[in-house]
Amino acid sequence: MAKTIITYGTFDLFHIGHLKLLQRLKSLGDKLIVAVSTDEFNALKGKKTIIPYAQRAEIVENIKCVDMVIPENDWEQKILDVQKHHVDVFAIGNDWEGKFDFLKEYCDVVYLDRTEGISSTQLKNTLKTFSVSKHEILKAFEILEQLKKDFD
Ligand code: CTP
Repeated sequence: MAKTIITYGTFDLFHIGHLKLLQRLKSLGDKLIVAVSTDEFNALKGKKTIIPYAQRAEIVENIKCVDMVIPENDWEQKILDVQKHHVDVFAIGNDWEGKFDFLKEYCDVVYLDRTEGISSTQLKNTLKTFSVSKHEILKAFEILEQLKKDFD
């Protein structure tokens, strides 16, 4: 019988760590369901994404190894999802190690190693270093003006 895997996550600024995780999840079975956190649920968690839910869901849905995307609306839905979709394995990155052991009553629970050196948070921080403030631009113009005067 086909083996169904389920995972949960935000998947903002989709990156190689996400892709590798989804590929490893799929290799655990036959059907991979990904519950993507909605913007409203992220707001509850105090998390703000750059990419809105509809686009994050569309990107994940179009990854070759993903068979189905469902919304993650709250902390409580996992048991119902496992039962509704006849899930055999709940799996997630080991940043969540031990946090979902209560699901062991309903299915296997697996924590996978994360890919080193990349995360959505890290990408957001890198983006911040690229943005130049208006103040910095004005300062650069002042320096240019001064250089021009010095040369005249
Ligand atoms: N993940 C992973 N390797 C990474 C980053 C994420 O395996 N380098 C996994 C997480 O463990 C999780 C899934 O990808 O199971 C979705 O994680 P998500 O929180 O959306 O990604 P992060 O990049 O960790 O985002 P953030 O920095 O906002 O926590």
